[in-house]
Amino acid sequence: MAEKTIRILGIESSCDETAAAIVEDGRHIVSDFISTQIDIHKQYGGVFPEVASRQHVLAVYPVIDEVMSKAHMSFSDIDAIAVTRGPGLAGSLVVGMNAAKGLALSTGLPLIGINHLEGHIYSSWVYSDRDEEIPPEPEFPAIVLLVSGGHSEVILLRDHLKYERLGGTLDDAAGEAFDKTARLLGLEYPGGPSIQKASAGGNPDAYQFHVAKMPGTYDFSFSGVKTSVLRTVQKLQKNGEELNVPDLAASFQKSVVSILFEKTMKAAREYQAKNIVIAGGVSANKCLRDTFLNDQNEFRVFIPRLAYCTDNGAMIGAAGYRRFIAGQRDNLDMDVFPNWPLSRVSL
Ligand code: KG4
Ligand code: ZN
Repeated sequence: MAEKTIRILGIESSCDETAAAIVEDGRHIVSDFISTQIDIHKQYGGVFPEVASRQHVLAVYPVIDEVMSKAHMSFSDIDAIAVTRGPGLAGSLVVGMNAAKGLALSTGLPLIGINHLEGHIYSSWVYSDRDEEIPPEPEFPAIVLLVSGGHSEVILLRDHLKYERLGGTLDDAAGEAFDKTARLLGLEYPGGPSIQKASAGGNPDAYQFHVAKMPGTYDFSFSGVKTSVLRTVQKLQKNGEELNVPDLAASFQKSVVSILFEKTMKAAREYQAKNIVIAGGVSANKCLRDTFLNDQNEFRVFIPRLAYCTDNGAMIGAAGYRRFIAGQRDNLDMDVFPNWPLSRVSL
C-alpha cells in the first residue's frame, strides 16, 4: 500500500513578507502565496517594524485563505501547521504565530514551530508543478551557505536537521552589507536587487574593495568592504568627481561573492561534501549564482528557484514536514524566539 501523503501548511511572517504554502512530503508545493510589503517599506529605506506587524495582521488570514482555496483543500486534508518561530522581528513573528495557534486550536491539527534559517535551507528541496520534472534533492553531507538579510553562515549539514556551524560573518550579514552599501550609493531598498541591477554594465574590477578573510577559519567580515566603499565615495565626492555607480556596485558585489565562494568551496573540500546548498535572500543574486553554478565547479550546487530564495511559506512547510516526521509537536503556549540561532535548534 502506498504511504500516506503528509501535507503541511507553512506560515511565514518573520520580516516583511506574509507568506503561506501547502507542501506535500516536504517537497511538492501544492499552492503558495506571498504578500510582500517591500513597496511600503521602500519609503523608509528599510523595514519599519511597527508598520510590518500591522501589515501582517491585515494579510495573514487572506494569504492562508488564498493557499487553501488555490489548492481546493480544507483543513481535513492537512496534517499539521508549521509556523516560523524565529529568528525575526518579534512584532512580525507573533502575527504568524497567533494565526497558526488559532488555526491549530480550531482544527485540532498539530502545531510545529520552525526556525526561519532551517526553512531557508529546505527551500532547496521544494518543487512545484511549474517544474518540468521532479528535481533531485541534495545529498549528505552537504555544505550550506546561508546568506540572508540577517545571517551569513557556513554550515555542515550531516543529515536532515543535523547542523554544525563551521563559521560565518563576524559582523554584517551579506544581505545587510548589500542593503547598507546600496543606501550609501543612493540606491533603493532592498539593496541586493538594486546593487545587482546597478552592476549591469559596470566593471567589477574598477575598484579593489577589501574583504577581511580570517585565514584558516570559515569566518569573514563585511564591515571593511562597506567602509572601503564609503571611503571611495567620499574621496570621489571631495575631488568633485562623478560617482560611477555601476562600477562601484559591480566591484562591491564581486568582492562579497568571491569571499562567499572561497569559504564555501574550502568547506566543501575539507568535509568531502556531496553537495553545496545555497540558501537565503542573497542566493537570488545573479553574480553569486553564476559563480557557483559554473560548469567547472567540482561540486553539485543547489540554489532555490528565484521565487524561493527570499522569504516564502513553502520553505516553512518543507522544514515542517521534516520536523513532523521526526515527531516534533509544539504546545499552544509556544512563544516566538526573535534571536533564535540555528545552533540552538534541537531535534
Ligand atoms: O532571506 P531574506 O528574504 O530575508 C531574511 O531572512 O533576511 O533576505 C533578504 C535579503 C536582503 O538583505 C536583500 O537585499 C537580499 O536578501 N537580496 C539580495 C538579492 N535579493 C534579495 N541580495 C543580493 N542580490 C539579490 N538579487
Ligand atoms: Zn529569510
